[in-house]
Amino acid sequence: MAILDKHKIIEKNATLLLVFSFLVVTIGGIVQIAPLFYLENTIEEVEGVRPYTPLELTGRDIYIREGCYTCHSQMIRPMRDEVERYGHYSLAAESMYDHPFQWGSKRTGPDLARVGGRYSDEWHFDHLVDPQSVVPESIMPKYGFLANRMIDPGHMVQRLRADARVGVPYDDEMIQAAVADFRAQADPDADGSELLERYPGAQQRNFDRRPGISEMDALIAYLQVLGTMVDFSTFQPDPAR
Ligand code: HEC
Repeated sequence: MAILDKHKIIEKNATLLLVFSFLVVTIGGIVQIAPLFYLENTIEEVEGVRPYTPLELTGRDIYIREGCYTCHSQMIRPMRDEVERYGHYSLAAESMYDHPFQWGSKRTGPDLARVGGRYSDEWHFDHLVDPQSVVPESIMPKYGFLANRMIDPGHMVQRLRADARVGVPYDDEMIQAAVADFRAQADPDADGSELLERYPGAQQRNFDRRPGISEMDALIAYLQVLGTMVDFSTFQPDPAR
């Protein structure tokens, strides 16, 4: 009874009530947020997810530069209609090496999170050069100029180093070999054994079937890896999470 009487003091004094409310909310907030500062990672790691190869990473930079994200999302929500149309819902781990992530919310075109392997390189080439030639009702713009823009991979070392600085696990060997790996992935005749050792499952071929490494090569290499890193025939969500 006595303690309730004392509570009346707070209830009758608005300023005091405000001060105590603030204290309670502050403590509650700290309890929730502070542990996150001490966790290395809040994302469940999933087998198969690896950093992008230098060529894929370049394709991703072109994807962002060209604003593909203004019409395309890269996140399949766990709802029936989305899963039936696009495939397994997206996992947080699948974009853990994306800086910045490409989830998006604008879908003028379809979600691209699992477009990798769905079409041939030829299809992507024709579609990017002239979308209406393969999808007559398409309103997607033409990107044929990418095939004429050759890439000088001189900056790849710094590019990988920048991502390593924000937490992508590119080690010294990967960074030193960035230019060689970039060239090897787009050349079907190159020895790709080291590339595959560093980036398991990397697809090695001449993506645009033209001489030289163009922005088209890089963009198609990126599109073809999207959503293909995790093997969903064996994937099991961690029940503890
Ligand atoms: C103005 C909006 C717009 C922009 C910008 C855009 N797209 Fe599209 N995209 C579409 C539409 C609409 C479709 C569906 C019709 C079609 O297949 O062309 C589509 C389809 C696609 C598809 C086929 C997806 C599927 O599952 O069938 C791919 C791949 C694609 N776009 C890649 C890109 C890339 C890469 C860029 C940037 C270089 C880009 N798009 C920019 C609107 C856009």
